[in-house]
Amino acid sequence: MGQIRILTDELINKIAAGQVVERPASVVKELVENSLDAGATDISVEVEEGGCRLIRVQDNGCGMNGDDALLAFERHATSKVKELCDLDKIATLGFRGEALPSIASVSKVRIVTSDGNPSSGSEILIEGGKIQDVRVAGRGRGTTLEVRGLFYNTAVRRKFLKSRETELSHITGIMTETALAHPGVYFTLKHHDRTLIKSPGVSSILERSVQLLGKDARGNLMELEEGREGLRLFGLISIPGFTKPSGTGLSFFVNRRPVSDRTLRHAVYAAYETLLMKGRHPLVYLFLDVDPALVDVNVHPAKREVRFTDPKRIHDFTRDSVRKTAQGYGRAQEDERPSPWPASERVERVKEAVESYLRTAGEHRFHEERTTGRPAFTGRIQPEPGKPAPAVRALFDKERLVPLGQIADSFIITQDRDGLILIDQHAAHERILYEKFKQVYRLSKIPVQQLLIPVNLELSGKERILLAEHLKTLRRLGIEVEDFGRGTFSVKGVPMWVADMDIQEIVRSLLEEIVALEQGGELDRRMEDIIHVFSCRAAVKANRRLSREEMEALIRDLGETDSPHTCEHGRPTM
Ligand SMILES: Nc1ncnc2c1ncn2[C@@H]1O[C@H](COP(=O)(O)OP(=O)(O)OP(=O)(O)O)[C@@H](O)[C@H]1O
Ligand SMILES: [Mg+2]
Repeated sequence: MGQIRILTDELINKIAAGQVVERPASVVKELVENSLDAGATDISVEVEEGGCRLIRVQDNGCGMNGDDALLAFERHATSKVKELCDLDKIATLGFRGEALPSIASVSKVRIVTSDGNPSSGSEILIEGGKIQDVRVAGRGRGTTLEVRGLFYNTAVRRKFLKSRETELSHITGIMTETALAHPGVYFTLKHHDRTLIKSPGVSSILERSVQLLGKDARGNLMELEEGREGLRLFGLISIPGFTKPSGTGLSFFVNRRPVSDRTLRHAVYAAYETLLMKGRHPLVYLFLDVDPALVDVNVHPAKREVRFTDPKRIHDFTRDSVRKTAQGYGRAQEDERPSPWPASERVERVKEAVESYLRTAGEHRFHEERTTGRPAFTGRIQPEPGKPAPAVRALFDKERLVPLGQIADSFIITQDRDGLILIDQHAAHERILYEKFKQVYRLSKIPVQQLLIPVNLELSGKERILLAEHLKTLRRLGIEVEDFGRGTFSVKGVPMWVADMDIQEIVRSLLEEIVALEQGGELDRRMEDIIHVFSCRAAVKANRRLSREEMEALIRDLGETDSPHTCEHGRPTM
């Protein structure tokens, strides 16, 4: 007998499930997309144990009659594509007829559905892909689908599942994305008896983003809307200056389908260009509407990728649209913007500022008397980060450096016998904080200041889950958070020297960093990176006027650090 045989349907479904169903969040995605395709306006998702024990999705969509409900679990059974030519212009989220049989092959499924016809409601029980029972059931129009014990018969997959918090945060991420893309639909997400998302339908993405994203959306995101020859791009992008430490905050949707797409990603970075500091990333939620005939959605097993017929056109349109919006904001906010220039450009700007300072030196000085010597700018500002000019290094003597004034509210001018030295106040403060912090962290002696009025945190659903999971890590960093249950947290104490900073902002960026690092493993060993972020966030920003005492203290403290010449990102402090 030959060696080759045709696989059984059961095995085929399980293999397909391996590609379609990676984790509980993939099940949520497929089921919610089915509900959307069914025209639902109210979709509620309940999960238990991060979706590993139960996922229940209920909708008020078109439902199915008994025959269709049975057929829906057959492989390649779909109501969405009829003919070959349909594949070229898919307007629904689903099109393969694979999701339900795949999910059913690796879990225990119960579906109750009705198309609204009083006699047609039905209930079906399926276990590991095998139909166990089919009954008549009463239900109004719509569908309820329950998935229990995901991967109960697939030990390998089960092993790859992460903690229930991590799985839940993936589910919240998918739900947030989906809810953003469909602002008119009422979405709820519950984990056991905790409601994580409750978003009644609204009329715009901006309103939806305020519902879902909490404080991030207010003030830090701006709306974008551009159209060109059959292409429409809209959504939200972060204002220049509001950036993230990891690149996970870029979400793209093509014809409302969430996708990871390199073309779009590249276009966004190209648009922000010099508005981003090295190592920082924007936050964007961008929706591209394009004629379905110009994009192939059938390229990825989880439908997560698409292929454009003319990627360059899409790229350039996206880049130009994002750039226009971001730079438009930049111009409007010129005065308030924290320095968005990369180091090389900053040098030029500093030169200009110094020259203009020298021309009008009398007006800027706060000294009663002019310091002796020649305040001569010799142009010795090192353009390369991390490599202080030797002359500057040799000359750094905190006793002899006297602050003369501040330019552009961002640089402290000091002078010694050889000329002027400029100190970048943000970079310098960052270095000081970093070293202090590292030292006390190593000794587990972070001085915590109790806040008179605890700060209530305003967080998105995903952030709340992360926070609950990482309370201990934050405590080790000196941030004391109280969990009042039901997603309410308040900060009671913070490390002494950040007490007057935006605590909400600090907690959020720390959470984000913790997650980014955790995904790379070895959280403990990389705690120093977190301390970097902390110092950067807490450091005095550019564009802040300092008093003479503050300048003196900064110079003194900087002199006491191990490497006073650069901040932790390698940006020169002077
Ligand atoms: N919530 C629902 N309400 C109404 N009909 C549904 C619902 N869920 C599934 N169906 C029906 O069951 C069919 C099979 O669903 P399934 O998700 O397996 O495939 P699909 O959505 O067509 O394609 P894909 O595999 O790409 O998701 C759908 O085409 C649809 O007709
Ligand atoms: Mg589907």
